[in-house]
Amino acid sequence: MSRYVDDAKEKVRDAVDMLELVSVRTELSRKGHNSFFGRCPFHEERTASFHVRPDEKHYHCFGCGVSGDPFDFVMETEGLGFKEALESLAQRYNVTLEAADEDPRAAERRARTDRLLTLLDRAASYYARCLWDSDEAATARSYLLGRGLAEETLRAFRVGYAPSAWDRLLLASRRAGFSDAELVTTGLASRSQSRPGSIYDRFRERVIFPLADERGRVRGFGARAMRDNQPPKYLNTSEGDVFHKREQLFGIDVARREASRAGRVVLAEGYTDVLALHQAGVPNTVGIMGTSLTEEQASVLKKTAPVLLLALDADRAGQEAMLRAAQRAEAHDLELRVVPLPDGLDPADLLERDGPEAIRALVERSEPFVVFRVDRILAANDLSTAEGRDRAMTAVRPVLAAEPPSVLRMELVRKVAGRLQLPERLEATLVEGNGTRAPAGRDAAPRNGAARPPDEPLGPAEATEQSFLAACLLLGEAGRAALADVTAEEHFTSALARRAVRHLAEHATDLDAVPADDPDLAAYLGRLRGRFAHEPVTPLLLSTERCQLELYRLDRAIVAAARDQHAEIGALANERERVRRQLQDLLAEAAGETR
Ligand code: UTP
Ligand code: MN
Repeated sequence: MSRYVDDAKEKVRDAVDMLELVSVRTELSRKGHNSFFGRCPFHEERTASFHVRPDEKHYHCFGCGVSGDPFDFVMETEGLGFKEALESLAQRYNVTLEAADEDPRAAERRARTDRLLTLLDRAASYYARCLWDSDEAATARSYLLGRGLAEETLRAFRVGYAPSAWDRLLLASRRAGFSDAELVTTGLASRSQSRPGSIYDRFRERVIFPLADERGRVRGFGARAMRDNQPPKYLNTSEGDVFHKREQLFGIDVARREASRAGRVVLAEGYTDVLALHQAGVPNTVGIMGTSLTEEQASVLKKTAPVLLLALDADRAGQEAMLRAAQRAEAHDLELRVVPLPDGLDPADLLERDGPEAIRALVERSEPFVVFRVDRILAANDLSTAEGRDRAMTAVRPVLAAEPPSVLRMELVRKVAGRLQLPERLEATLVEGNGTRAPAGRDAAPRNGAARPPDEPLGPAEATEQSFLAACLLLGEAGRAALADVTAEEHFTSALARRAVRHLAEHATDLDAVPADDPDLAAYLGRLRGRFAHEPVTPLLLSTERCQLELYRLDRAIVAAARDQHAEIGALANERERVRRQLQDLLAEAAGETR
């Protein structure tokens, strides 16, 4: 394999005629200077969403999200690796590629790695031959076929069988000229403890799943036990020179092109699950192999497709994995959906039990991650009791509040409000918190003192003000302390709420005192006392409301500072950030309490 001098890529890129290159695949029409549109060659479409900028030699599809340079285009449309794409373009546009004079040590390293990869590839072929040809593998064959996996699928993934003897693979590899050291480095053989200097086959009497990289080069193996008393259930290649578990996604070589064409990649837990999904007609599936999604895997996935469908086991452990995977994926800006697997069944079980159609149907019914989370919270709490509904509400609020406003969020809010039996005017409180700003104008302008008709919806800031005051009323000493810490003018937006704060401050020793000369205020205090009639009021709730109150105050102060061009806006923003974090911690604590 030859290497090219560093500037080869730039020379080839300069030579490429981007319009000509793309026009071979799709017809382009000019839409403005340096701007062409056509139908996307990577996904089925009627409208022209595929955009090319010839000057930058860049393409981007507004429909499926693919984008890249001429090399990406050739790699994707022709299924080539980068080096092959470089060579192909160099030839097409008459660029001579000069091989670099490689540093001899680097050349040596590369030659060594090439040998190890060759050894691994030969091992994969050896195991596959054993599976289909050896008598010993009869049990393994009928086991796999009996699970509903087709020969065609098994062959596509080069599934194999490692015989039970201790030396089959190592003898064959030695005959082909590989050293014991190479066998050990690749993880195919282990050194004997009892007989120093001798080695033995690591994988024995197991079904073998080769683990290949994006380019289809085998780097390691997962090996499933065939007997019950043969731990571990899966023995995998350990971390080494060529195998890096953190980077590995099972099936990425087979799934990559389909995934980028479809714009989505499906993530399953186990080896057999990946096979089952492929066989069911979901060829854009890869496996995380039972671990939690790593940073490295997430960035490979992001490169492959913008949408990630989680088809992980729905059991408790699977759900935890799902949440962790979600955090990781969100950090990589992947759009997340969840395939609703029935409890306790993985895709391989489903294939066996219900057949391929059932799997495909489930994948088609994938739902946005936020829907999955909300449903799980509702399912985890006993909604027939007020306490259960309260716990669900505390847990669901940060989830909904973190979601940007959308029709989907609105529908979720309605659904949750319905299940929690919240009156419609309190729906807005479900999306409060987490520093989401209330719509401008609604709570920025102080209300006048007129009593509000009871059915008029509260703005989120006002809802917070009322919840805060209500919690103060119900918490005695802690409430008094919290009241002493706020100011009517700064923290409250309506004249009525401000009167309430002043009244309560005046009668701090007797929070139950009724204002005789102010019927509006009396009614308001009455409503506050009723506000938490069906929910427990805790100091944690009070702290949360206090934090939100402070956030709204800071929001107003920032708006005012911006209007008056005050210089303190930076300090306000810093303070807001500090309070926002504090609120997040409190919400996390509240969510923890409901677990
Ligand atoms: P599971 O225990 O769910 O196995 O582990 P599975 O995939 O359903 O296996 P089958 O269907 O019974 O054959 C999920 C994945 O976790 C990894 C493997 O990648 C497995 O596919 N795993 C599991 C290990 O690496 N080691 C183990 O001992 C167990
Ligand atoms: Mn399984």
